[in-house]
Amino acid sequence: MSDELNLTKGGAPHQEPKGEDDILTTAQGAPVADNQNWLSAGPRGPQLLEDHVAREKIFHFDHERIPERVVHARGYGIHGTFELKKAIPEYSHAAIFNNVGEKTPTFTRFSTVAGNKGSPDLARDVRGFATKFYTKEGNWDLVGNNIPVFFIQDAIKFPDLIHAAKPAPDRGFPQAQTAHDNFWDFISLSPESMHMVMWIMSDRTIPRSFRFMEGFGVHTFRLINAKGEAKFVKFHWKPKQGLQSVIWNEALKINGMDPDFHRRDMWDSIEAGDFPQWDLGIQVFDEEFAESFEFDVLDATKIIPEEQVPVEIIGTLTLDANVDNFFAETEQVAFCTQNIMPGMDFSEDPLLQGRNFSYLDTQLKRLGGPNFTHIPINAPKCPVHNFQQDGHMAMTNPKGRANYEPNSWSGDMDDNREPRGPRASAEHGFASYEAPVTGPKVRVRSETFADHYSQARQFYISQTAIEQTHMGNALVFELSKVERMDIRKRMVSHLRHIDDGLAKVVADGIGLTEMPEKITAARKPIDDL
Ligand code: HEM
Repeated sequence: MSDELNLTKGGAPHQEPKGEDDILTTAQGAPVADNQNWLSAGPRGPQLLEDHVAREKIFHFDHERIPERVVHARGYGIHGTFELKKAIPEYSHAAIFNNVGEKTPTFTRFSTVAGNKGSPDLARDVRGFATKFYTKEGNWDLVGNNIPVFFIQDAIKFPDLIHAAKPAPDRGFPQAQTAHDNFWDFISLSPESMHMVMWIMSDRTIPRSFRFMEGFGVHTFRLINAKGEAKFVKFHWKPKQGLQSVIWNEALKINGMDPDFHRRDMWDSIEAGDFPQWDLGIQVFDEEFAESFEFDVLDATKIIPEEQVPVEIIGTLTLDANVDNFFAETEQVAFCTQNIMPGMDFSEDPLLQGRNFSYLDTQLKRLGGPNFTHIPINAPKCPVHNFQQDGHMAMTNPKGRANYEPNSWSGDMDDNREPRGPRASAEHGFASYEAPVTGPKVRVRSETFADHYSQARQFYISQTAIEQTHMGNALVFELSKVERMDIRKRMVSHLRHIDDGLAKVVADGIGLTEMPEKITAARKPIDDL
């Protein structure tokens, strides 16, 4: 091929189509004669608005962006398959949990939380691990993280947490380079976040790759069997590749060299046929057993110890195909905690209940209307029949049948009228577990949610000496970016409830001359009682 440019008069290049199928068209399909020069009044302009071809091109370009996700903006999606290895009819009647060997198509999106779409991959941040299972009974979204607990117990606090963590509205960046006053101010005033703080200050936080991290559904959900009996469940993803992290110094260098390190790693391994796998594990326990814990299983800042309730592996997820279209798939995928199938239900976890509202609400705006389930990546792969119609970007509508119910159009009546449309089925449909609900309407945090330190301490002491050193270093690094001394002190006075040795390392590292008193805790850690 000649690399000589075919320049037209005035210097704009022109390249001929190879054949009729190769002719450039407008979005309306009209062939375009010139894609380099805007119609103008004379060779030196001005440009004419009459040029509908140029205007259409610019109009479309102007609208290429949609709002980035309010959190988890930076993400990377991969197609895969979930294969059931062990049926669990005693726990759930959901089809996906009952046909051993059945393969369910999936789409998984890994993400960071606080950074924007263009932020570096190796931030000290939580990683999202969201999987959409296209089951025969509707889409099930397991929208989890790589850390098994969360910062807050009640969804009403989420906007404050995120405002404190994201760039400040006046300057568009956090007050200091990595840590900042607002975040640590909020954290130090929210003792419930201490367990999660221990995790994000640990080596677990910056994975070597998405392939080497765990995933957790975090909340307690319910599984329901064919007899209508319910058990509580927690979901776990265990990477077959093992668990690997990088340390902070490595993360800083990698971010500088290659801010796309994690997504590149995933793309490359899939293209090379090296498909990462995770086992899906469940921890199942009943309400009576839940009562025996010293913490509340509805509290998302707590784990269920695996020594007490072992993780049972029931299936394997294999990620094996990169997307064809990053925007259409990874950007437009819409996960939502309320997408569950019959045989499963929510618990009364106040964080989960708030999430169930938030995702649908934000997606209405982010994806431009109520019809985002018509976008192929969000569309179920099982039959969909309902009476919904119209709205922005509707791709389907009820056709040739009633679009409301009840109706008296009937397939039974031999009168050539249109069919009556679908009907709800008590036998197959989603049924909420009949959990007893009592008590007055109150705005109060349950007393059973009040111990914020015991599991934080257990996590800290479970770490090896070098990992504990890294945690101390991370806290010193982060808190030394906090300008207000009262916030630094308040954090140390929380750490004293977790581990006095750690508190001392941090106090020395950030230059406190006196050790602050232990903060007054709503509930003392178990070991202090
Ligand atoms: C997005 C996990 C708490 C609101 C996400 C995503 C994940 C996630 C993985 C990214 C989904 C994707 O890749 O598209 C979690 C976990 C939580 C938690 C594990 C706690 C256990 C919350 C809470 C709220 C919330 C409490 C609000 C009350 C959102 C919103 C998005 C999001 C609005 C953006 C969704 C979108 O635009 O599609 N979350 N989240 N999250 N989360 Fe959460």
